[in-house]
Amino acid sequence: MKPERTQPARTLASLQKRRAAGRAIVALTAYDSLMASWLAECAVDFLLVGDSLGNVIAGHATTLPVTMDQMTYHTGLVVRGARGVPVVADMPFLSYEISPAEAVRNAGRLVKEAGASGVKVEGCMAIEAVRSMVAARIPVLGHTGLKPQTVLQMGGYKVQGGTRAAAAQIRREALALQAAGVFALVLECVPAALAARLTAELAVPTIGIGAGPGCDGQILVTHDLLGWTEQPKKFVKPYADFRRSAQAAVTTFACDVQAGRFPDARHSFR
Ligand code: KIV
Repeated sequence: MKPERTQPARTLASLQKRRAAGRAIVALTAYDSLMASWLAECAVDFLLVGDSLGNVIAGHATTLPVTMDQMTYHTGLVVRGARGVPVVADMPFLSYEISPAEAVRNAGRLVKEAGASGVKVEGCMAIEAVRSMVAARIPVLGHTGLKPQTVLQMGGYKVQGGTRAAAAQIRREALALQAAGVFALVLECVPAALAARLTAELAVPTIGIGAGPGCDGQILVTHDLLGWTEQPKKFVKPYADFRRSAQAAVTTFACDVQAGRFPDARHSFR
């Protein structure tokens, strides 16, 4: 049976209406045009060109090496495949922290050169930059909780907000980002109760990843959801076993080639 799904939001501005209507927001990552094109047929509300592409497809240990040129290139690929689904592009490490002017220039590249509908930034240390991008009419998605670009200071990827002080800090950051004008907020790897409290307090939609069911929507790395990546994560439910299916297909291909079964007459030209 085909799962039921309500009509997707189609613009970032309409995410707020989805929230008001009590309809969960669905977002996924995409890094290329082919991926964006089949995701666009699955009624997702928006696609995120996450700087997680540094880990997932470039093989880096962190997202820190990802550059503006790489984000611009991949965002362009995704926008071309996305068939009107809004595309948000991550601003990579040190592309928005140096000065608000540089942040606007870099966000402008993602919008003007690559066609993004909005950009995402982690944390609120560059809050002036967030204000400047919003003032320049660029929709900004905030991100708090676990902020992968802070990995060197965090000393690894850990659940955030587990103590009262840490939870209060995340709340302050969420409120500061909201006040600076973000259109929604990603909450990554925080206790479910904290995410639910923030969702009730904030006026902008929250989109959780490892933040429990109390958020206004959910986002995952598509490769994780498909069971394509190697390492299972506690907060990911793999909805497919893509890695194993793909490996089985490739092994069968190799056996067929070695046994002379491929190509056969049907797959050859006369
Ligand atoms: O980079 C990314 O893919 C992200 C999502 C996981 C939220 O930030």
